[in-house]
Amino acid sequence: MSGSTETIRRLTVGDVAKLHEDGQRIPMLTAYDYPTAKLLDEAGIPLLLVGDSVGRAMLGYENEISVTMDAMLHHTAAVARGAKRALVIGDMPFLSYSTADGAVANAGRFLSEAGAQAVKVEGGVRTQRTIEAIVKAGIPTMGHIGWTPQAANAAGKVRVLGKNREQARTLLHEALAVQEGGAFAIVLELVPEQLAAAITDRLRIPTIGIGAGAGCSGQVQVITDLLGIDAWHPKHSKPYADLRGTILAAATAWAGDVVAGTFPGTEQTVRMDDEVLDEVLGRGQSDRGAAGRNADEMIPGGIPLDRDL
Ligand code: KIV
Repeated sequence: MSGSTETIRRLTVGDVAKLHEDGQRIPMLTAYDYPTAKLLDEAGIPLLLVGDSVGRAMLGYENEISVTMDAMLHHTAAVARGAKRALVIGDMPFLSYSTADGAVANAGRFLSEAGAQAVKVEGGVRTQRTIEAIVKAGIPTMGHIGWTPQAANAAGKVRVLGKNREQARTLLHEALAVQEGGAFAIVLELVPEQLAAAITDRLRIPTIGIGAGAGCSGQVQVITDLLGIDAWHPKHSKPYADLRGTILAAATAWAGDVVAGTFPGTEQTVRMDDEVLDEVLGRGQSDRGAAGRNADEMIPGGIPLDRDL
């Protein structure tokens, strides 16, 4: 009998806790669409974050503030359809969790409408009660502290946070608040390596770093940075592919073939029985053009080429 009967089991936050307990570093990548999610799942990436970075990376917005609930649900649903094994985390967009009731309702939509298994929210102490409310409603929640893009208007330009005493103390405090709120993991973004490692040592839950050094329990990267889609990438990322080069080369080569008339070739082309077409057009074999495609030809006795069929 052919065909595999093996069923793929969706990872849970329990699996994430187990990986952490076993001391395994946890990879997480952002994903925004169905085909990429399918590939990342096939590559065995256990956590897929549908980040609000979709705004910059995929939608051409200047920042994360413009990303709406509808856009997030749309992209999360595509990722959840593509990934059968990975735990899919929907990033709650700006203002979607500013009140506890609204937060629970919106977080619920990520699970019930988009098929995610968890959500992520930004903020430490200020978000602790919100995390508690969402978790209490049965929705696994990931925290996010350090540089938090949704707070960009209040926080100023993108920078590493935690270098001075006050910021370092605050971040430690924020991390503990997120853990006490009941989060299953926490993203540390743009935090000095030593501080991120110290936070990681003090938490029970895994830390997932981005620009926070190698001492975190796991790492997250924005998929477009990893794949080298853009000519620019942030300092903390390392392109593992050159999709920009690959796409440019493919598009240029294809357009060149179209202009030269070498695409489509015979392999990409379907032909029909010429006699059938002769009959349809009311022409004899002798009236046929070389390839039946010459628009300048008039077919004696047949249907004129400019006639609207
Ligand atoms: O939106 C996002 O991609 C994120 C990651 C950078 C953690 O929040």
